[in-house]
Amino acid sequence: MSELIVALDVQSREEAVARVKEIGEAVSFYKIGLELYTAEGPDVVKAVKDLGKKIFLDLKFHDIPRTVERAVKSGGKLGVDLMTIHACGGNAMIRAAADAAAEFGAAAPKILAVTLLTSMDQADLVDIGVAGRTPAEQVRSMARLAVASGADGLVSSPLEVGVLSKSLRKGTLFVTPGVRPANAELGDQKRVATPANAVRDGATHLVVGRPILCAPDPAAAAAAILAEMRGA
Ligand code: C5P
Repeated sequence: MSELIVALDVQSREEAVARVKEIGEAVSFYKIGLELYTAEGPDVVKAVKDLGKKIFLDLKFHDIPRTVERAVKSGGKLGVDLMTIHACGGNAMIRAAADAAAEFGAAAPKILAVTLLTSMDQADLVDIGVAGRTPAEQVRSMARLAVASGADGLVSSPLEVGVLSKSLRKGTLFVTPGVRPANAELGDQKRVATPANAVRDGATHLVVGRPILCAPDPAAAAAAILAEMRGA
């Protein structure tokens, strides 16, 4: 069964706690990203964990292997469940993250790799010196590298998850943002899938922010998405 993760894209710990309480029992997994973590630090992770929730700490590490290893250990000590790194950090960096996580045994955070930011297109690839490859080819290549180097899974656009989930080893996690129920506002997301389609394509975790946080009744919005996921 795929899990729903709500992106806690708010600015303060107080607001984060209030939103988690408002959404209630239906959702047990929250994503804390750069905006909230940079404002509030580990305290916000502890506050959401104290409400009994699982944490996806989405800080997308990309640094030398030793620094990433230590950052992953810090996340493991906080008790987070999922963490992100950039696959373009290379084999040694990905391996360092995976090994650091493994030290936590049964409580090890799962390491997810970002293959290529979905905001980047062909021209951006040329700018950074990756000429002669389409974004889709770059995604597949980075995905293979990440999984072969020990990553537990990938952050994947809903339009890529179908291809990736068929070509990578069983048990790989596919965490998919850009999910919009059929009648929802797209916001700034351009390439989206419905919850049911994302699940059918192999997403193990769906990340949803505004369709829940901005709904008149966030708990009901979350429940509707969960029902659609179960139906798939
Ligand atoms: O509000 P919305 O549902 O668009 O939120 C999606 C979340 O997933 C945001 O926190 C966004 O930063 C994150 N994300 C994304 N696309 C990616 C990677 C992360 O939308 N490629």
